[in-house]
Amino acid sequence: MNIAIIGSGYVGLVTGVCLAHIGHRVICVDNDPQKVKKLKKGGIPIYEPGLDVIMRDCVRKKRLSFSGSIKDATQRSTVIFIAVGTPPKSTGDADLVYVENVVRQIAENMDSYRLIVEKSTVPAETGNKIRRTVELNLPRKFRKGNQALLDFDVASNPEFLKEGSAVHDFMNPNRLVFGVESKKAEKVLREIYKPLKAKVLVTNIASAEMIKHASNSFLAMKISFINAVSQICGRVGADVLNVAEGMGLDKRIGRAFLDPGVGYGGSCFPKDVDAFIRLSEKSGYDFRLLKEVRRVNEEQRQAFVHLVEDKLWNLKEKTIGVWGLAFKPNTDDMRNAASVEILQKLQQEGAKIKAYDPRAMANAGEILRGVALCASPYAAAEDCDCLLLLTEWDEFKNVDLEAVRDVMRQPVVFDGRNFLDGEKLKSLGFDYYGIGRGKA
Ligand SMILES: NC(=O)c1ccc[n+]([C@@H]2O[C@H](COP(=O)([O-])OP(=O)(O)OC[C@H]3O[C@@H](n4cnc5c(N)ncnc54)[C@H](O)[C@@H]3O)[C@@H](O)[C@H]2O)c1
Repeated sequence: MNIAIIGSGYVGLVTGVCLAHIGHRVICVDNDPQKVKKLKKGGIPIYEPGLDVIMRDCVRKKRLSFSGSIKDATQRSTVIFIAVGTPPKSTGDADLVYVENVVRQIAENMDSYRLIVEKSTVPAETGNKIRRTVELNLPRKFRKGNQALLDFDVASNPEFLKEGSAVHDFMNPNRLVFGVESKKAEKVLREIYKPLKAKVLVTNIASAEMIKHASNSFLAMKISFINAVSQICGRVGADVLNVAEGMGLDKRIGRAFLDPGVGYGGSCFPKDVDAFIRLSEKSGYDFRLLKEVRRVNEEQRQAFVHLVEDKLWNLKEKTIGVWGLAFKPNTDDMRNAASVEILQKLQQEGAKIKAYDPRAMANAGEILRGVALCASPYAAAEDCDCLLLLTEWDEFKNVDLEAVRDVMRQPVVFDGRNFLDGEKLKSLGFDYYGIGRGKA
C-alpha cells in the first residue's frame, strides 16, 4: 500500500520505518528542512534503538523515502497518517494548530479517495474537526459549497509505543485500535497491519481518541499511586519495592508502572494528563482524581530535592553530580524530563551541577543552563558532594563504584529511580538514599 506519514519525529519516523519494514511503500514528510536533509542522507535525527538498521534496509529496498512536501506525499499515497506534535497550550489544552495545518494541506491536494488517519494524540472530537476541515478545503471542483463530492475517510489509530523500545513496541503491539466511520476505512487499516497479527479493537473515532487519553492517564495514575505509597513507606520503615512486588503479584493489579521514583515526565504523560483534565472540564466533568495524579507527581520531585537538601545540610556552593538526564533510558528525549526541574531547583538553592547522560547530552545542552556536561559517569562524580541518579540507564549498573567513591568529595548517593544496589553501595562506604526504601 502507498502510505504517507506527516511528521517524522519520534512517532512518525518509527511508524513510517516499521510500515515500510512490513512491506508498504512509505513516504515520510516533515516541514523541518534540516530533518529531511539528514534523513535523505541516511542520518537519523533521534536516538531510538534498532531504528537505523531497518531504516537503511527499507531505503535500500526503495520502500521508504523522505520529503518536505505534503502535496507530493498526498498525491502519491492512498493512506495518510498524521503524526505531528500536539504540544500543550498554557491552558493545558492540546494545541492542534499543527494538525489543522496538515489537514488543510492534505485536503487542498486530494484528487481521489484518501484515508486520513490520526496517529497524533488528540482530544476526542478531533476526528469531526478533521472531517469538516477537509470538506471545506478540497479543491473547488470536488466540492459544492461546503459539501464534499469526493469520497474520503477519517480514522483514529492511536499510538501506544514507548520511546526507547519503540520499534519493538510497534512491531509487537498489545492491541491495535481502529476508530473508524466506515467499513472501507476498517478494511484498509486491517490490510495495513495484517503482517503484525495483532489483536484489533474497532470502535468509533471518539472512543479510539478516548482510549489513548484514558490509557496514558491510567498509567500516570499508577505511577503517582506508587509514588504516594513510597512517601508513607519512607516514614514507617517499609520498603516500597517489596510493597510493589507484593501488589504486582496480584494479576488484577500487575507489577508494571509500579516503579517509584522522581515522577513521570516526557513528552506524553504530563501533557496528556493535562489535556484530559481540560477535555473533562470542557465536557462538564471535574476530573479531580487526575488533578491529584498531577499534584502527587509535582510533589514527588519537590520531595526528592528536599531529601537532598536535608541530607547535604546546605546546598550553597555544594557540587552535585548527576547520572542520567533523559526522561527515561534508551532515548535522547529531554522533553519534560524530571531532571530539568530538579536541577533548576538545586541551582536555585546555590548548588553547582555536573552531569552525564549516555545519549541525551546534545538535547540537554540546549535546555539546561549553567550545567557542566561531562564525558563519563566518573567525570560527573569527580569532586562532588553527592551523586543523583535520575535516569536508569543500564550503563550505570556497570560503573566501578569504588572508583566513583574515590573521586567524590563525599560518598553520598541519592538514587531517584531505586536502580542501584543500595546494599552494595552501603557496604562500600556510601551513604545511600533511595525512594521509599525505609526510614532515611
Ligand atoms: N513520543 C511518544 O512516545 C509518543 C507516543 C504516542 C503518541 N505520541 C503522540 O504522537 C504525536 C507526535 O509526537 P512525537 O513525539 O513524535 O513529536 P515530535 O515533535 O518528535 O515530532 C513531530 C514532527 O512533526 C513535524 N511537523 C510539525 N508540523 C508539521 C507540518 N506542518 N508538516 C510536516 N511535519 C510537521 C515536526 O517537525 C516534528 O518532526 C504527539 O501527538 C504525541 O502526543 C507520542
